[in-house]
Amino acid sequence: MPAVVVVGMQFGDESKGAVVDYLAEWADLVVRYNGGSNAGHTVVANGEKYKLHLMPSSVVRGKRGVLGAGVAFDPEVFLEELRDLKSRGRNIDVLVSLKAALLLPYHKELDSAISGGRLGTTKRGIGPAYQDKMARVTGLKVADLFSPRFPQRLKEVLEIKENELRNAGILTGDVEEYYLKLLAKAEEWRNSLSAFIGDDHLEVNEAIAEGKFVVFEGAQGTMLDVDHGTYPFVTSSNPVAGGACTGAGVSPLAIDFVVGVMKAYTTRVGKGPFPTELSGDIADYIRDRGGEYGTTTGRPRRVGWLDLPMLRYSAMINGIGYLAIRKLDVLSGLDRVKVAVAYEIDGEEVRIAPPYVDELEKAKPIYEELEGWKVNDWNEFVKGGWSSLPEEVKNYVSFIEREVEAKAILIGVGPDREMTIPTPHLREIIPL
Ligand code: GDP
Ligand code: IMO
Ligand code: MG
Repeated sequence: MPAVVVVGMQFGDESKGAVVDYLAEWADLVVRYNGGSNAGHTVVANGEKYKLHLMPSSVVRGKRGVLGAGVAFDPEVFLEELRDLKSRGRNIDVLVSLKAALLLPYHKELDSAISGGRLGTTKRGIGPAYQDKMARVTGLKVADLFSPRFPQRLKEVLEIKENELRNAGILTGDVEEYYLKLLAKAEEWRNSLSAFIGDDHLEVNEAIAEGKFVVFEGAQGTMLDVDHGTYPFVTSSNPVAGGACTGAGVSPLAIDFVVGVMKAYTTRVGKGPFPTELSGDIADYIRDRGGEYGTTTGRPRRVGWLDLPMLRYSAMINGIGYLAIRKLDVLSGLDRVKVAVAYEIDGEEVRIAPPYVDELEKAKPIYEELEGWKVNDWNEFVKGGWSSLPEEVKNYVSFIEREVEAKAILIGVGPDREMTIPTPHLREIIPL
């Protein structure tokens, strides 16, 4: 069985949760490799909706999941999600990497105070936590939490961070008191987390060596990658497929396929360039029908037409051979659907998006119009399968496949697990 990376091709929220949950029917292990609770992955199964922030999307099916070394691990969010999922009858089988960066309460406060407004972050402490990880002298890992030297290490970290925390108005009183409070919290976390921690590298590599079906679940999307996205309007980790290798400790040679998840249109939440952005009636139509409000923050998402230059860029950076195209139902009812096939930048036609803010702000999308589709009830097509779909829907999918040079393994026509329609290409990655 293969090792497959599931990666967001756009600005996040492509429906990675729904796709991972679908593949998890066959998967043995699902591994989150980047980001933290800035992610909001939705799984709708048996009429129940789960909004997962830190847990791998396998937990809805009760399958084994891993939070890899590349994750920014917030114990508070993890334990809250654990309680919530258990109260909903889920059996949680998750391993947390000892190598994951530890995200502490002050990271969230720093995020709110500094980067939240300027970049439109989720205020989940992601930037400040990765900043400390890279700085090393102020970083702590999950392993540190379980080390007898934790009290000393935390003290050293606070010595360096004290000024920063005071300047941001986060630390106002006595530093010793602040330290003791954190230490007490850490003690609580340790007790609740000890059953979950371990060597992610052994677990994941052994699973691959045994020929198990391993799914790497990316958070965020390619255009939000700190190295390859629209910097500085990005997150602080590597959502790209390569991030699965660094974030989970596996060789690039261990990955068999990369599945790019995309919406049938484009959305973005937070600030940053967006060449195909729409406003007005069509934007409202798509936002309302698609429920385009942030899973983590509830903010209305910006919406726009599909952007092929961006998808081609994404396909290249990730090595995408297969596509999962979601939310085709949302566009239903439109007479014509527009797709940006290229940009015009300074009089030149550009087919692969340059990921630079200045260039993207100048980019004028060159659109092609495709025939729309009008479907009120998708159930007959879900039953009838891929071949029964209206020609206009199949044309839209084939158009994307041709332009992006990748094959669709499934499409989504609704949020529920049942509303995924596989194509014949699914068999190429899963021996059904
Ligand atoms: P993720 O972060 O990539 O996992 O995506 P989100 O969960 O943040 O956002 C995707 C949203 O679209 C969620 O509300 C899903 O329930 C919903 N969704 C997923 N696939 C489909 C689909 O094919 N059609 C519709 N209408 N909604 C979908
Ligand atoms: P999933 O995994 C969509 C966006 C934020 C902001 C920028 C930086 O659900 O697809 P951060 O809090 O990471 O420092 O914010 O990135 N962002 C997301 N947008 N989906 C996400 O995750 C996102 N995670 C972060 O809105 O613009
Ligand atoms: Mg999301």
